[in-house]
Amino acid sequence: MKAQQILSKMTLDEKIYHLVQMTTMTYLKADGTDIVTGPSSTMQLDKEYIYDVGTLLNLVGAQTMIDAQTNFLNHSKRKIPPIFMQDVIHGHRTLYPINLGVAASFDRQLAHDVAKMAAKEASLDGVSVAFAPMVDLVRDPRWGRVMESSGEDPYLNSEMAAATVKGFQGDMGKYNVAACVKHFAAYGGAEAGRDYNTVDMSERTLREYYLPSYKAAVDAGVKMLMTAFNIVDGVPCSGNKWLVNDVLRGEWGFDGVVISDYSAFEEMRNHGYCADRKECAYRAMEASADIEMMSPCYAHHLKELVEEGKITVEQIDKAVLRVLKLKEELGVFDNPYRSVDVEEAKRVQVGPEHRAIARYAAEQSAVLLKNDGILPLSKDIKSVAVIGPNADTGAIHGSWFCGGKIEETITVLEGVKNIVGDRAFYAKGCNIEYDSTDESMIDEAVELASKVDAVILCLGEHQDYSGEGNCRTNIEIPAVQYKLLDKILEVNKNTAVALFTGRPLAIWELDKKAPAILNMWMPGTEGGNACANLIFGNAVPSGKITMTFPRVLGQVPIYYNAYRTGRPKLEEDDFNRVRFTSSYLDMPNSPLYPFGYGLSYTEFEYSDFKLSQDTMNRGDTLVASVKVKNVGKYKAKEIVQLYIHDVVGSAVRPMKELKGFHKIELDVGEEKTVEFKITEEMLKYWNKEIKFVAESGKFEVFIGKDSTCKPYASFELI
Ligand code: NOJ
Repeated sequence: MKAQQILSKMTLDEKIYHLVQMTTMTYLKADGTDIVTGPSSTMQLDKEYIYDVGTLLNLVGAQTMIDAQTNFLNHSKRKIPPIFMQDVIHGHRTLYPINLGVAASFDRQLAHDVAKMAAKEASLDGVSVAFAPMVDLVRDPRWGRVMESSGEDPYLNSEMAAATVKGFQGDMGKYNVAACVKHFAAYGGAEAGRDYNTVDMSERTLREYYLPSYKAAVDAGVKMLMTAFNIVDGVPCSGNKWLVNDVLRGEWGFDGVVISDYSAFEEMRNHGYCADRKECAYRAMEASADIEMMSPCYAHHLKELVEEGKITVEQIDKAVLRVLKLKEELGVFDNPYRSVDVEEAKRVQVGPEHRAIARYAAEQSAVLLKNDGILPLSKDIKSVAVIGPNADTGAIHGSWFCGGKIEETITVLEGVKNIVGDRAFYAKGCNIEYDSTDESMIDEAVELASKVDAVILCLGEHQDYSGEGNCRTNIEIPAVQYKLLDKILEVNKNTAVALFTGRPLAIWELDKKAPAILNMWMPGTEGGNACANLIFGNAVPSGKITMTFPRVLGQVPIYYNAYRTGRPKLEEDDFNRVRFTSSYLDMPNSPLYPFGYGLSYTEFEYSDFKLSQDTMNRGDTLVASVKVKNVGKYKAKEIVQLYIHDVVGSAVRPMKELKGFHKIELDVGEEKTVEFKITEEMLKYWNKEIKFVAESGKFEVFIGKDSTCKPYASFELI
């Protein structure tokens, strides 16, 4: 095995530097000037070993990779090629919708395909590892990073995690990349939805809700995993031996590479968990974290820790071997340049094939939140106005990407013109900034609206209002956008809102006012075409939200699969509350739009609910089924959802849990029987003793179009 042979020749210093991750830019200048002035100099890395660094992050394009790799190998004595890692969040050069959008498609194959496409584009640029998928469970829309997540449900998150990992990695061939699942663990639990903030939860909550998606990625064969910035039970994840060594490596059998998040090792000092960088290095090695991203604790202190007998060379060897094995699997010992190809990259990236996938993904991700019947618009319409701060901007493609270009993104106006040509007119109406009060553009927009047959009003957020470090305390759309809407509605009731957002917004007012709302999320490079296709009925909306939309921010955290309480509020939609029940004075408990919710242009009728048995012996499989009929006017897709409720447990159980879903397509008038298998495995949970078991007793079964569906049958597990 090459990895083992290479390891046996390395000195201790070389091994230690192999665990350091630096930026690619450090190695771009052939004369080495970036080594002297760049981050390596700030981090005071030893110049003698700077060409022994094992991995590099952030890369812009194929030529950059070729230059950096060539310089590196020319200077390096040991000549072990570094591998290049990058954030491939929702695409690489072609952007598909933000991950919260792709999740709304409830389409495993789609999650797989967009990851595969992104892997091909990234690998042609020399990327070998994608820092993705982000599989953190989320409940707080203030947190900017909900855009990268697949939402609030552990089962759906797990399904999307596994599909994405398989899409990136395939058979680890030329155009695949290794996936790095992140952020382990529970980064999405940040208090108050503020990035990098404290996470504090019971082991039960951690295991029940937050850990399953990482485990699913591990079971799907993910090659790498990134530790989170936050603490888990008082210990920062990068130095959390219980979390990384005991749970991840011990319980789950993960033998791949663990990398820290950006400078997270040395941030253990800021947490007040380690006194100095030396202790950070000790804690991280003790936790069996392998690569240190962009801080120098290992480089400065591992050797000293070995000399003092606190860390063994075997521990370091194990870490280095894991990195070398990944390199061997990626084939870089045979070809350090792997799949990088300047010309092929130009041909493939943002090419028609990838645009088609991105467009389809955006159509499948969109969620029709409201429709009083004005959508779809007729393609024969005489005139249509595309108005709003998101109407003619490529920024709708979403934030947090490394390679996408704004000018390559189709705007809504362009998309609409592609369908109705010069019958489409534009006015901006107002600015996008959340604090904008400028109303000077409203009159022009209203005048235009008064002259056309219909208005597509593009409201919502700017792409940079979500993503890392972009959290909000106000998740409503700005007052100026409401002013624009109100005035337009005065002159034209035929107004559909296309909403662009990186998070669930509190849009109760919008829901009351707008005749139709099509939530496009941040839809990627082909967003404008997808939006127009949906508006004009070339595609029929079928997405369902995977993160609850609150009526108002004060309801947050609000999620469908909450634990039961002793004093539940029984009628969720009832504004007349009963005091001394779990409720608010001024607001119902129910959200504006629940998990799993989304409309279509057609109607689906559910009937003939069946459950094959009313008792389940251990090892049995039950079949739950329902007939679904398309009783409307459009051929369309429906996401049929199965929920189960464990009625009594040795520990309190959630009100209901998603346990399966099928996405089906039905022609007008067509009916299909949809079946779900229910197994004992699906009934397991972390019981009172934190053991993963299925307890005997009653289980209720629900099948429906969203998480508000009612139970129709129950069975007894013997
Ligand atoms: C910090 C982010 O938290 C992480 O998701 C990302 O992969 C790294 N920076 C590298 O860019």
